[in-house]
Amino acid sequence: MASSTMPRRVALLLLLLASTRAASAAGAGACAAEKFPAGKTYAKCEDLPQLGAALHWTYDEAKSSLSLAFVAAPAGANGWVAWALNPTGEGMAGAQALVALKGSGSAAPTVRTYNITGYVPLGKASTPIAFPATDLAADSGSAGKIRLYGKLQLHGGMKAVNHIWQVGTSVTAGAPDKHAFAAGNLASKSKLVLSGKAASATSPSPAPAPMAGGPSGSAGSDGGAAATTAPSAGKSPSGAAAAGVSAPALLVLALMGLLAVV
Ligand SMILES: *[C@@H]1O[C@H](CO)[C@@H](O)[C@H](O)[C@H]1NC(C)=O
Repeated sequence: MASSTMPRRVALLLLLLASTRAASAAGAGACAAEKFPAGKTYAKCEDLPQLGAALHWTYDEAKSSLSLAFVAAPAGANGWVAWALNPTGEGMAGAQALVALKGSGSAAPTVRTYNITGYVPLGKASTPIAFPATDLAADSGSAGKIRLYGKLQLHGGMKAVNHIWQVGTSVTAGAPDKHAFAAGNLASKSKLVLSGKAASATSPSPAPAPMAGGPSGSAGSDGGAAATTAPSAGKSPSGAAAAGVSAPALLVLALMGLLAVV
């Protein structure tokens, strides 16, 4: 008797694990569908709340090394896209930026670094930034998007940092022209949580925890939901919070079904 129920129990467990996985993948949103060239994979991605941009990244905490891909459509066919960390503030002043400039012609976008000191025009040459940048490159993605790649050596112990992003219409004589000052351009900033399990919607769900609890699964699951949503509630897009809530809820339903069957 017991032996005949075991395979079914295992199958159900696998099924509900798969369903919580699917729920959290769906919560990751559109960025999860991005297909990068071979050799470029990132542990996490986030659809940013403004300008249709997305950030993909892997943070090696031991080395304080951040590999990233920033994906956004420039505001004009020959424009530019930029992503920056700002270790000293929230806005543009102090931003340590990576900028990919399309410019005219069919060549791959050029990538530069800029230490942005304020609302002053940028030149056509990189300026040194606070985080040594390597592997800088860019290519063209779907729908006119530019994909900007790079690796930044962050400071030890950085756990969360302000980041901002921007898109511009044009490039003149190799330098990015001023961007628009519409609501989306001005609101394109957030906090990037580098470490911790809830760093993004694609981080593994803590949903399996309630299983150890057996019949008291729903109590355990409530704990799991709190653990999922609390750290990411800050400024992450609504998708992250939605996935955090829905996966444990699904799990509770599935567990109730499992208990009814067994
Ligand atoms: C960036 O610019 C600021 C202001 O001029 C300066 O204090 C800082 O040292 C610069 N950073 C780097 C890495 O050069």
